[in-house]
Amino acid sequence: MKILYAASEALPFASTGGLADVAGSLPAALVRAGHDVRVVMPLYSSIPTRFREQMTTAAEINVKLSWRNQYCGIKTLVHDGVTFYFLDNEYYFKRASMYGSYDDGERYAFFCRAILEMMPAVSFFPDVLHANDWQCALSVIYLKRNYNHIDEYADIKAIYTIHNIAYQGIYDIRTMGDIFALNAWDRSIVEYDGALNLTKGAIVCCDRLTTVSPHYAEEIKDEPFACGLHYIIRDNAYKLSGILNGIDMEYYNATLDPEIEQNFTAEDLSGKAACKAALQSELGLPVNQEIPLIAMISRLVSHKGLDLVQCVMEDILLDGAQFVMLGTGDLAYEQYFEELAAKYPEQAAVLIKYDKSLSKRIYAGADLFLMPSKSEPCGLAQMIASRYAAIPIVRETGGLYDSIKPLNDLTGEGNGFTFTHYNAHDMLFTVRRAVNIRQDAARWDMLQKRAITMDFSWNASSAQYVKLYESVM
Ligand code: GLC
Repeated sequence: MKILYAASEALPFASTGGLADVAGSLPAALVRAGHDVRVVMPLYSSIPTRFREQMTTAAEINVKLSWRNQYCGIKTLVHDGVTFYFLDNEYYFKRASMYGSYDDGERYAFFCRAILEMMPAVSFFPDVLHANDWQCALSVIYLKRNYNHIDEYADIKAIYTIHNIAYQGIYDIRTMGDIFALNAWDRSIVEYDGALNLTKGAIVCCDRLTTVSPHYAEEIKDEPFACGLHYIIRDNAYKLSGILNGIDMEYYNATLDPEIEQNFTAEDLSGKAACKAALQSELGLPVNQEIPLIAMISRLVSHKGLDLVQCVMEDILLDGAQFVMLGTGDLAYEQYFEELAAKYPEQAAVLIKYDKSLSKRIYAGADLFLMPSKSEPCGLAQMIASRYAAIPIVRETGGLYDSIKPLNDLTGEGNGFTFTHYNAHDMLFTVRRAVNIRQDAARWDMLQKRAITMDFSWNASSAQYVKLYESVM
């Protein structure tokens, strides 16, 4: 099968969150299963030189959109068996940050149009165009509304994956012609709630709609989770399914990871203590194995459950625990966490940044990993934490529900701690329960072994994608 996988970010080239993990690992898993999968993404100026040096120019084209006519270089390299195409236009992608420009709509409209224009230039017409999140939504809309009548494009099917329905790509409907080059007669396809909504347009146009966990696929049919799109999701539920993300089990591997203090295995967890001591000392916290160390690595935005944390974190610290938070986001949360660290310098360490390497040292050093999300389409951190024997404490939502099952006192089953209701004291109770169970060395050891050996690989999920692709062809 020939798949063109379109994403606005992919590891190891450019990353701001979980989408990059998925775009950097699912295509490779599909290639290993024998498929011709290629990834297309923008050539951001932040992509490191060591990768740029490996790229060659596959083609150079011009991309017309409305009255604009822009150069587009198509650079390529092979990484992990996957051919990557990087679409080059400095006017659009030589920016200080990947997202957040006033003209993001125009930038990703260019990207999406270029994806379709690229196909003849590199002689690759896929069986399936698999587009991810709102930045790629227009590639689905253009395919179905502007290209499917052309012979070479006629058989291309479109899969659209929602990684987080909170980000939809909403613009003034009056820009649909000028900026997005959409035809006036397509207004009903892209219009929602009086605005131009790119996600809505892709949901309507795609052949199959997916999201990143089965539970989230159910949740987004309901108002509290759908950020306004529940009617559209329900209307299109016949083509919706949820496939749980996997992670790169080699990259996140406590046994071999060169970036952590000492390696450890499920059979011999002793290296984990060294990782914890090194982390405590790096963070300027008292080095003490007895003290439970609770970690969060998260974007600092409301749906990550930070208001629960704000409510009861001081209770957790007053119990004696240590806490580390790594992440960036909304200013109000950044300030809250910085104040917390200033108030409890012996117990709380806060790092307002995005740092992949530090995140691994935190996973490896922490005892417990907290993810109290209000909503969580999939969540990868709970899986990654498990790989490093940091036991997840999660709220039962989305992919957290699908991947972490609560420790059952009677049967001993379960791979973490969970709570159901979005309630700060339920979270506090669950944290206390986890901290108490940690006192029982035998149970804790069993839980850590189970966490490390969980199969969070792409094996099962990539097979589900293959089935999905086959079902539309
Ligand atoms: C988004 C979601 C997250 C998911 C990731 C990868 O970042 O918020 O839950 O794990 O995409 O699909």
